[in-house]
Amino acid sequence: MNFAARITGTGSAFPKKRITNNSIVKKMAKLGVESSEKWIFERTGIAERRHSEIGNKAEYNSSLGLIAAQKALEMAGKKPEDIDQIVYATCTGDTILPSTACWLQKKIGALNAWVMDINAACSGFIYGVATVEQFIKTGQTKTALVIGAEKLSVLLNWEDRGSCILFGDGAGAAVVEPVAFDSPSQILSSHMLSDGNLWELLHVPGGGSNLELTPERFAGHEHKAKMNGPELFKVAVRTLTRFAKEELKKNNITVDELDWFILHQANIRIINAVAKRLGVPQEKILLNIERYGNTSSATIPTLLDEAVRDGRIRKGQLLLLDAFGAGLTFGSMLLRW
Ligand code: COA
Repeated sequence: MNFAARITGTGSAFPKKRITNNSIVKKMAKLGVESSEKWIFERTGIAERRHSEIGNKAEYNSSLGLIAAQKALEMAGKKPEDIDQIVYATCTGDTILPSTACWLQKKIGALNAWVMDINAACSGFIYGVATVEQFIKTGQTKTALVIGAEKLSVLLNWEDRGSCILFGDGAGAAVVEPVAFDSPSQILSSHMLSDGNLWELLHVPGGGSNLELTPERFAGHEHKAKMNGPELFKVAVRTLTRFAKEELKKNNITVDELDWFILHQANIRIINAVAKRLGVPQEKILLNIERYGNTSSATIPTLLDEAVRDGRIRKGQLLLLDAFGAGLTFGSMLLRW
């Protein structure tokens, strides 16, 4: 291997509209579904999330991805024509065909790039960075763009109070470039694993090629997300903890040496349970779940972007990324900024 890879730019974008717990409690009440602001905040840590305005082209998945990508390119000092690979991680793409990566490529003008979507749900950003890292290491890719962006608001069933409270829309992006293989700032390691046996814990039954949407299936909300929250909660705590421990052990690094622990933002109680098991102090954990909820593949890149821009993440610091998502998919990554 001639090169290592590092993230040289980050960006993020969210829809304008704030959806407070109070507003979703009212929305559910109209459908005869009971909930409360207090329950939602105490059981999830979410106070509000952003949902794209229906039909607003400026808040399409790829439009949010575009803003995030432009910011990341600006930080990295790169132009769209410099990009030679784009990986767009999403499970709520603009269209089934073409890929959202193609929409983004057209919008940003990255005409020297080959592009693709990956659907690894909430682990998507880590899967995306790990993918481009391999092309960078062999010298095939010089400038890669990885996006994690979602418009999860379209998958919400407002009659299902256990899931509709959790999700929001947003986009995060990162530019990834080669550095010398012995550079101190680089992606140190990553670990991905998936378990399709656990598909049922979070899935959308209809709308794919197996269950074409009929008016009956539409009325039965089969195009909306179905989730087994309590079971997912247990798997998440167990697996996020295991992945974090393995990632640190592989690199001979202790929790004390870590500067930032960047966990997928699914539920504050999952984050706290994992942190407690690992012994990570609260001040080393990046959070944005209170403001944005679970934005799936966008949680990790938006957290990164916020903390890079406000100066919390600084050169030389050690970061551990850790995620799980529908599939189920799991992924962790250790990097020195
Ligand atoms: N408002 C009020 N009550 C609610 C509610 C809501 N929005 N949602 C569920 N409840 C009720 C349940 O019906 C249940 O009532 P019961 O005891 O009368 O049956 C009670 O609260 C406890 O439900 P439970 O599902 O056990 O709650 P929980 O503490 O596990 O919280 C989740 C539910 C969904 C918030 C939690 O399980 C979770 O976050 N799981 C992980 C989901 C996840 O990570 N998804 C994304 C993966 S990337």
